[in-house]
Amino acid sequence: MDNNKVKVIEAKDLRLVKNKQEIFQVESFSLEKGEVLSLIGPNGTGKTSLLLTLALLQSPSQGVLYFKGHKITKDKIISLRRQMAVAFQEPLLFDTTVEQNILAGLKIRGIAKKEAKKRADWWMSRLAIKQLAARSARHLSGGEAQRVNLARALVLEPGVLFLDEPFAALDYPTKNALLNDLGLLLKETGQTTLFVTHDYTEIPFLTEKVAVMYQGKIIKNGSIKEIFGPEILSRSKSLNIPWP
Ligand SMILES: Nc1ncnc2c1ncn2[C@@H]1O[C@H](COP(=O)(O)OP(=O)(O)OP(=O)(O)O)[C@@H](O)[C@H]1O
Ligand SMILES: [Mg+2]
Repeated sequence: MDNNKVKVIEAKDLRLVKNKQEIFQVESFSLEKGEVLSLIGPNGTGKTSLLLTLALLQSPSQGVLYFKGHKITKDKIISLRRQMAVAFQEPLLFDTTVEQNILAGLKIRGIAKKEAKKRADWWMSRLAIKQLAARSARHLSGGEAQRVNLARALVLEPGVLFLDEPFAALDYPTKNALLNDLGLLLKETGQTTLFVTHDYTEIPFLTEKVAVMYQGKIIKNGSIKEIFGPEILSRSKSLNIPWP
């Protein structure tokens, strides 16, 4: 079997209901090894709820999830969560140094100190935050904090990386620089990633592949050009494109 075609995450008939309201209903979803998929859709359409469910942080009301072909059962959830990493719009940082923040997840996973330090150094360099290593994570700018947040997730070299609008709060030049760096890193490391956004201009930095979510359902899958049309790449962020 082609190793790159391994489905790292697969979901069938996945549904989430809260307070008798259906939040999402997704018949099938999968993410292949090394794939970066962008999930786009308007506010309140269920993107975060689906991401949290796939990241095993929210139990579905119905459906089956598979990790690398194996059905996920309750007894496996805690160990499988350690193979996943999530970064949200609001960086979740501990009140310690930048370096300690990046090392924390590796410590929990039992990675030896020397190896952990090597990995943390590499990711800090690649995300251009090495000079912040000894700084308190409490006193970072929004852009710096998001870089640290991403380094915390990426250093784990997780089976799947889940990104939930990590650039939404950043100004345009800061976002642009970070998207450029992250796009290269995801490609270089072959990191399997689900990238949630409502801003289509972010997508081309990270991937070609798009799934469109609308009112709790994935209504389209395709390349950027197939979904948005060929002119998308040259359109300005300020233009308001209607949802497909
Ligand atoms: N714990 C909850 N209880 C009840 N309803 C919820 C809960 N969490 C989310 N919802 C509802 O589910 C719907 C989808 O929310 P979700 O946060 O997944 O959307 P989203 O696509 O991520 O939106 P945004 O782009 O604003 O982040 C919304 O109507 C929201 O109010
Ligand atoms: Mg959301």
